[in-house]
Amino acid sequence: MKIALFSTKPYDQEYFERYNVQQGLDITFFEASLSIHTVNLTEGFDVVCIFVNDKVDDTCIIKIRQNGVKLIALRCAGFNNVDLDSAKRNGIQVVRVPAYSPEAIAEHSLALILTLNRKTHKAYNRIREGNFSLNKLIGFNLYKKTVGVIGAGKIGIAFCRILHGFGCKIIVSDPHESDELIKLGVKYETLSNLFKQSHIISLHCPLIPETKHIINKESIGLMKDGVMIINTSRGALINTADVIEGLTNKKIGFLGIDVYEQEENLFYKDLSESIIQDDFILKLNSFPNVLITAHQAYFTKEAMKEITTITLENIAAFEKGETLHNKLI
Ligand code: NAI
Repeated sequence: MKIALFSTKPYDQEYFERYNVQQGLDITFFEASLSIHTVNLTEGFDVVCIFVNDKVDDTCIIKIRQNGVKLIALRCAGFNNVDLDSAKRNGIQVVRVPAYSPEAIAEHSLALILTLNRKTHKAYNRIREGNFSLNKLIGFNLYKKTVGVIGAGKIGIAFCRILHGFGCKIIVSDPHESDELIKLGVKYETLSNLFKQSHIISLHCPLIPETKHIINKESIGLMKDGVMIINTSRGALINTADVIEGLTNKKIGFLGIDVYEQEENLFYKDLSESIIQDDFILKLNSFPNVLITAHQAYFTKEAMKEITTITLENIAAFEKGETLHNKLI
């Protein structure tokens, strides 16, 4: 069984080669991402292994089926980049890694909050330049602040556990209530109450039609002045133009994002010698109270090991005709 692994970075190859010793699968690594433009590379492969920014739409699925692909193995949790209905119609199975290390993403969300608030990135630069002044570095206590969590599944729950340790008041909007969170004293609220009450809002729901642009002009209008918005989930949960407007008129006090709606043209690439054509990211970069990381919330040693071993197990189970526990369709 031949596997084409797309969007390969050096660390992906390192982890897959390390953990494939046991499985011995036949993997070819492609640096290119999978999309309609690169679909010809899939000729003769049985499995495609993809990541968050590979774009597997209906046209791409029809082509990969014609090329002989029978399985799409996502090496991530989110699956908004694969047309599942089309995969079903075309008889292609789809597996993913549903949970690898929710704490990795939760902890990165905290890193964004603490950096934006206490400005350690600015202090680091200042001190290296011999500037020991504290001017404009003032932050606020997280203790007793209200944090609104939109979507409290595996990652949201891990995030709430950490916030609990900081002594925050936590409110959650999620159609499914968690007993663990209720025991922790978390309150479930309507989305509009969450928008009104929160000093910090953190997004941990999936990107689905109901959650697309959940942060928009209208919801921003309900928020507290100076609110902090954190998004480590998926870029399109935020309407970027509306958030830029909210930052410009100072309604939004801080923005921390690990994901961005047009990230596939930017993230995971070294564009330091290129002229960046994306006006939104250039504008976001111009704000002193915006912190952007390039979809790295998952990127811990523990998470990489889990992602790699579970992906290899998913593919090996398919090869052996065993039950696919992590099957989406
Ligand atoms: P999960 O499936 O365990 O939890 C998602 C939660 O969102 C569920 O409790 C669900 O009931 C809730 N939800 C669904 N629709 C909602 C709505 N309209 N409003 C409020 N809540 C809603 O998923 P998990 O593992 O916690 O992951 C969440 C998201 O995090 C993924 O969908 C993915 O987009 C993102 N992610 C980001 C990573 C990164 O590196 N930045 C890495 C891994 C995941």
